[in-house]
Formats: sequence, structure tokens, C-alpha cells
Amino acid sequence: MKTLDGARTKFVAMDTAFLLVHRARLLLVIMAFLVSTNITNSVATNPRSIVTKLIHRDSILSPFFNASATIKDRANRELELSTARLAYLKAATMVKSPDDIRGDIIADARGVVFLVNMSIGEPPVPQLLVLDTASRVLWVHCSPCTGCQTDNPLFDPSKSSTYFPWPCNHSPYCESHCDTGENHCTFSVSYKGGSYIAGNIATEKLTFVTSDEGSVDVPNIVFGCGHEFQHPHPSNQVSGYMGLDAGDGSLIHQVGNKFSYCIGNISDTNYIYNRLILGDGAVIEGDSTSLEIYNGFYYLTLEGISVGDKRLGIDPKVFQRSSEGGGVMIDSGTTVTFLARGAFEPLRSEVENIIGGSLRRVRATGNPDWLCYRGIAARDLGGFPVVTFHFGGGADLELNVENMFQNNMEQVFCLAVGVADGNSPSVIGVYAQQYLNIAYDLSAWTLSFERTDCQTLEDRLV
Ligand SMILES: *[C@@H]1O[C@H](CO)[C@@H](O)[C@H](O)[C@H]1NC(C)=O
Ligand SMILES: *[C@@H]1O[C@H](CO)[C@@H](O)[C@H](O)[C@H]1NC(C)=O
Ligand SMILES: *[C@@H]1O[C@H](CO)[C@@H](O)[C@H](O)[C@H]1NC(C)=O
Repeated sequence: MKTLDGARTKFVAMDTAFLLVHRARLLLVIMAFLVSTNITNSVATNPRSIVTKLIHRDSILSPFFNASATIKDRANRELELSTARLAYLKAATMVKSPDDIRGDIIADARGVVFLVNMSIGEPPVPQLLVLDTASRVLWVHCSPCTGCQTDNPLFDPSKSSTYFPWPCNHSPYCESHCDTGENHCTFSVSYKGGSYIAGNIATEKLTFVTSDEGSVDVPNIVFGCGHEFQHPHPSNQVSGYMGLDAGDGSLIHQVGNKFSYCIGNISDTNYIYNRLILGDGAVIEGDSTSLEIYNGFYYLTLEGISVGDKRLGIDPKVFQRSSEGGGVMIDSGTTVTFLARGAFEPLRSEVENIIGGSLRRVRATGNPDWLCYRGIAARDLGGFPVVTFHFGGGADLELNVENMFQNNMEQVFCLAVGVADGNSPSVIGVYAQQYLNIAYDLSAWTLSFERTDCQTLEDRLV
């Protein structure tokens, strides 16, 4: 038995500093009324689709790109990030009090999977934001700022002609969250471990670079202009977050209640065709299943799993959400997939049955749940059957070897599925979403997916 040195042991040593939301007062309240203000309505008439590059953190388009990083380096980080993200989602989905607010995983290099490049203000100032479908606020570092360290130009609202800070009388929320000196409506989010972002709420024009190198303006978007930032592990490469959850006030509701993304091969650092489409241009095709929203998070109804033609013996109850947690989420910030133990174990046994006779098992130190083999998935799993996740409404998500396995070292691959224990939600991760176009339609409450070559997606856009 070989040992995957170091790779898994890191799991336990996670710095939990940036995970749990500790105590914050903002969003639910704020956001509930944002949507009802007519400020956000002017966007609906926008003539052009917002189609922009979705930048994977390891790709050549990303400031995190590291040409010397090995497969093992990347796999270790993916596992570390995914495990941290699962802990965040578990904590965030269990927040019960309406006064508590789940935060974003704060701007930390480890919390980043996809980035979006956009500009803010007039003249436009480029910003690189973390895309996060499991948080709500769009915020950027703003000048003057205490604690912001970013390689991106710091947005200075005093130099922008389209900046509109909300005054204290803008709304009941603002009246109770008021910096009387400045007459500014304020926001703040605190995170366990002392991380903190605070500033004022404003509207601004966003400008996206479209995939054909043009640009599209989206006026009057509500955002958090952060003037105070504190984090134990700041990342200079990103200057904010683009929260795309389904909660009231999220950017999605301001651009037309829909978005879609297309994700290709995330293991290929040269792959540049991942795309994000916001608003009415979203590509809504393929199988669809109902999207259930709890506290802004995107949940799906998973009913069963098949490997080839064999339906695994899984009690569908293991996928159900209860007041204690659980349920099945789809997420853009978790790379591997996590399944409740009652689903994970039958899946792992079936995979072991199929592969076990031909390839040598590699033990993952410190975490007996991960199933790893010596070999190269693409080369050695030629005959491996399609794994199908059966969602409500007859929507079948068919997963092939690239969706199910991760290359962890030059000669070691693992099942890219881990265990969601306790009250943790199960999470459909980014490996499973590769080679798919996925659309979130918050008017129809559906999630649609279709196997797609993202490189040809644009030919289909008007
Ligand atoms: C890039 O990867 C190499 C190999 O793992 C590592 O030694 C180096 O520190 C990394 N560079 C950065 C900037 O992370
Ligand atoms: C983001 O876009 C700006 C132009 O708007 C460009 O100068 C910058 O290099 C881009 N950054 C990344 C990481 O793509
Ligand atoms: C994805 O990219 C990796 C790394 O470049 C490559 O080995 C693999 O064959 C690619 N998979 C597909 C399906 O293109």
C-alpha cells in the first residue's frame, strides 16, 4: 500500500478562521428591501447579453496561475479548498436566527474557484471578483480603505461620475444603519476569526468585458463599497466578491432573474472557454429540474444514483433537507462532490467493485473515505460506466470519468466524491459540472443542464 503523503492530512488542519459567520447584521434585512426599490429596475431594458469569461483560478487567465504547480499541488489545494468550503456551507446553512447572516468566504486565495473580471464606475476601474453562488453581496474594496491590499486598482468612488451612495434616509434599513457623519447607509459583515469587511451601500455602473472583447454596461447595481477590511490571509489578487445566490437583493434579481454558466475542462490550464451569462441572455437548455431555494442557497431534488444500468440501493431520504440541515446543493465554489454517507458508501462500493480487480488501491493518509488508485483515470478507466444522478422531474445528470475522478498525482487518481457527514448538505461540485452548460432560472424556479462544448456556445448566442 502506498501513501498519498500529506495530501489528505491537511484536511484536518484547516484554518477555520474564515469559515463561520460570527455575528453580522446586514443582508437579510437590507436585501429584502433592495429589490423592491425601483433603482434596480432600469437594468431590464439592457439591450446586450452579459456574456463574460469565467476564469478558473488555475487557468492561464488567472493571476493565481502557476506554471510550476504540479498535478499534486493542484489536487491538494482543490481538496483543501473543497473541504473548507463544505464546512462553510454546513455552517452557513445551519444559521437559524434571522439576525445572523452567513457571510461569504472572505477574500482569501483559498476560497477562490472561479473569478470574474469586470469594471466598476465611470471611468471604469477593473476589478477581479470571486464568483460565489452561495453568497449574496457584491462588494469591492473602495478607496479610502484601511486594510485593503489589492493588486487591482482600488476603486475611488469620488472619481466616478456614476456613483450614488445611499443616504441614511434611503430606506428603513439605512435609517438604522447610518453613518451620520457622512450621511451614508452602511454595511458590515464579520467573520469568525476576526475577518471583517465594512463600508457603505451604493449603486454603480458595472462594465463587463464580453467574450468577443466588446463591453456591456449594467447601470445602477447595488453594491457594498468596502472601506475597512481585515483578514488574516488576505489575497492581493482579488478585490471583492460577486455573490450570486438567490436571496433578495442578489445581483441576479437586478439583471433579470437568470444566469447560466458553461464549464469545460478545469484540469486544462490552457482552457479559456468557461463562460458566465447574466440575465436574459442565459442559455437555458437541456434537462431541467426544480430549483429549491432555502435561505438563498440553491438546492436540488436528488432521487437516486446509477452506475451504468445499476441503480444503487440508496434510501432517497439521505438526500432530503430537514430543519437540521442536509439536502443537496449545487455550488460553484466546491470542486469535488460531497454526498451524504448513505449515498457515498454504496457509490464507493460499486466503484471499488468495478475498478478494484484491475488497479492497485492507494491509501489516502488521514482520510480513509477517499478512494484512490494507482493509474491515470483517462487512460485506465476506458470502460468505466456512466454514473447518473437522477434528479426530480426525470432530469438525469450523466457523469463520465472526467466528472467523477480527479488526477491527484502523476500516477494516482481518486474518486472526486467525498463524504458530507452529520448535518452537512451534499454538494454537487465543479468536477461534476464540467462539460455542461448550467442555467439557473429564478423566474421558473428551474435548473437546466446540457452537455455542451463551451467553445461552441457562442455560436449559439444571438
Ligand atoms: C508555484 O508552484 C511551485 C511548485 O509547487 C511552488 O514551489 C511555488 O511556491 C508556487 N508559486 C506560487 C507563487 O505560489
Ligand atoms: C481585466 O480586464 C481589464 C480590462 O478591463 C484588463 O486590463 C485586465 O488585465 C483583466 N484582468 C484579468 C485577470 O483578466
Ligand atoms: C482535460 O485536461 C487534461 C489536462 O490538460 C487532459 O489530460 C485531459 O485529457 C482533458 N480532458 C478532456 C476530456 O479533454
